[in-house]
Amino acid sequence: MHIKMKELILGCFLASLFFACNPEPKTEVKRVVKIVKVVSSDTPNKDSELALLMRKMYLDADSIKQLIVNNTGTISDGFIAELETVHIAKATDPDVKTAEFDAFNKSLVNQAKAIQENPENQVEEFNKLVSRCIDCHQSFCPGPIKRIKKLRID
Ligand code: HEC
Repeated sequence: MHIKMKELILGCFLASLFFACNPEPKTEVKRVVKIVKVVSSDTPNKDSELALLMRKMYLDADSIKQLIVNNTGTISDGFIAELETVHIAKATDPDVKTAEFDAFNKSLVNQAKAIQENPENQVEEFNKLVSRCIDCHQSFCPGPIKRIKKLRID
């Protein structure tokens, strides 16, 4: 009962964060900031939609890790909804968006659902989620793998 309530609160919190990122005015501001950055320097713009989403996913996964470690909660529907948007977010390199990429995204989402469905094996299922992050990164973006590995629960 206790855990359910916390889950619900976390879900609402994540959902509100998630939706708070979407309203038009903010998107507009972001777009303007991006244009200013591109115009004011010739270094490539690193803040693609996908990069921003990934940064948020990392932080959210880290919060979920803390909940699981402390046995105070677990993954939320809001987080799963976030993972489901990976294949539609614009990447820095548009060439990454292949059928293989979509398949990696699907297995990530399926593993997130497995965490929800296996309350007895939270640590194991969470670590499998981290492995699904790494699977895609091995093919498409090896840079952050070392950092992602830190999400694993020992
Ligand atoms: C389907 C493939 C895929 C999956 C699954 C995936 N990533 Fe990524 N990730 C990428 C790609 C591609 C980039 C580069 C984004 C860009 O530059 O547009 C990226 C970038 C990142 C970055 C660097 C963002 C920055 O600051 O530029 C982090 C951190 C990250 N991912 C964490 C994660 C975590 C944590 C998970 C699992 C919860 C995950 N990723 C799952 C493909 C994936």
